[in-house]
Amino acid sequence: MKSFDSLPSADGLWTGLRDLTGADTAIVVAQGLIRWIGARDALPAAAADRPSRDGGGALVTPGLVDCHTHLVYGGQRANEFAMRLAGATYEEVAKAGGGIVSSVRATREASEDELFASASGRLRSLLAEGVCAIEIKSGYGLSLEHERKQLRVARRLGEAHGVTVRTTFLGAHALPPEYAGRSGEYIDRVCNEMMPALAKEGLVDAVDVFCERIAFSLEETERVFQAAKALGIPVKLHAEQLSDMGGSALAARHGALSCDHIEHLSQAGIDAMRESGTVAVLLPGAFYALRDTQVPPIDALRAAGVPMAVSTDHNPGTSPALSLLLMANMACTLFRLTVPEAIDGITRHAARALGLQETHGLLAVGQPANFVLWNLKEAAELAYWFGQRPVRTVVRQGRIAEG
Ligand code: NIG
Ligand code: FE
Repeated sequence: MKSFDSLPSADGLWTGLRDLTGADTAIVVAQGLIRWIGARDALPAAAADRPSRDGGGALVTPGLVDCHTHLVYGGQRANEFAMRLAGATYEEVAKAGGGIVSSVRATREASEDELFASASGRLRSLLAEGVCAIEIKSGYGLSLEHERKQLRVARRLGEAHGVTVRTTFLGAHALPPEYAGRSGEYIDRVCNEMMPALAKEGLVDAVDVFCERIAFSLEETERVFQAAKALGIPVKLHAEQLSDMGGSALAARHGALSCDHIEHLSQAGIDAMRESGTVAVLLPGAFYALRDTQVPPIDALRAAGVPMAVSTDHNPGTSPALSLLLMANMACTLFRLTVPEAIDGITRHAARALGLQETHGLLAVGQPANFVLWNLKEAAELAYWFGQRPVRTVVRQGRIAEG
């Protein structure tokens, strides 16, 4: 693989661009940062001397942000796909020893290098489509050693591919088989041993829990949140995916960055999220793959002004998706987001769900140069096509990374 540092610099004056409103736009990049952006005819005369880069009339957007992924894991679970096609539900598969725990077995067996290689292939698909920042969760290790391995791989991926990676510790994803019937003890381990050790090693940017009847209770979730708070780490939650447990309101009380899935979110949960500024992360890939019928309460979220992000939730069980544009399409088609909402959902609101709103998801002076040039005529096409790869060029971390 070509090293990221050997890719050409994006420094210079980019013209021949159209922003989402169709306006003729120019961007000046210097030392990897956006130094100027605005209407082409307002460009300061001094900028004209810079090396010129012709966008060829491309649509330009901020780099995409995939704010919820489980990208690092061993194996795959096509067998469960077949089981579900034959009529089994996600919960039935999990109870039969499949589900998350089957990926735990394969992840524990894999070496760090094997995990790095398989996740790199998946990451490349996302990057080729314009992703410039990504969240990667642990949660398929479920022991200190194997959670560490996953998180180290996540960090290595960021360095090797020149992409912003936010790591999320999801030790409370499922009960590991060796703790069967001892959920409380496992949560003790997560809080008192795993989280502090991994945080000390600089591997934890956020903490997440799967709060669900097949995973962890509200009370266990709260214990994990308290431990995160003691370490000064922000929290997020897999909440109200299969049932309304009231997890979102709890997460909001803990100032969560985001509540994710939320098909069964109640009005009380929405109100709490609005109060705390928590982002609602919509995961249409999991909704689709599980043939869910309970649509998240989009109208009520919109009415409350809760920011909505859209993500792949890439994982081997419920969302083996590697296209954020496809998720934008599904968010519109299945959940009835508008196109501007879907675009905000894969850019600025996704950045907010990671606490990256100051540096990602917007085209603004002072931000690192992360932007995408698309072979598209109008903004709506970003969510309209599916299965097409309309990227012309990706500028990532100040380099011409694709195209
Ligand atoms: O986001 N909901 C829980 N976690 C994942 C699924 C993980 C798996 O099935 O491996 C999700 O959908
Ligand atoms: Fe998830």
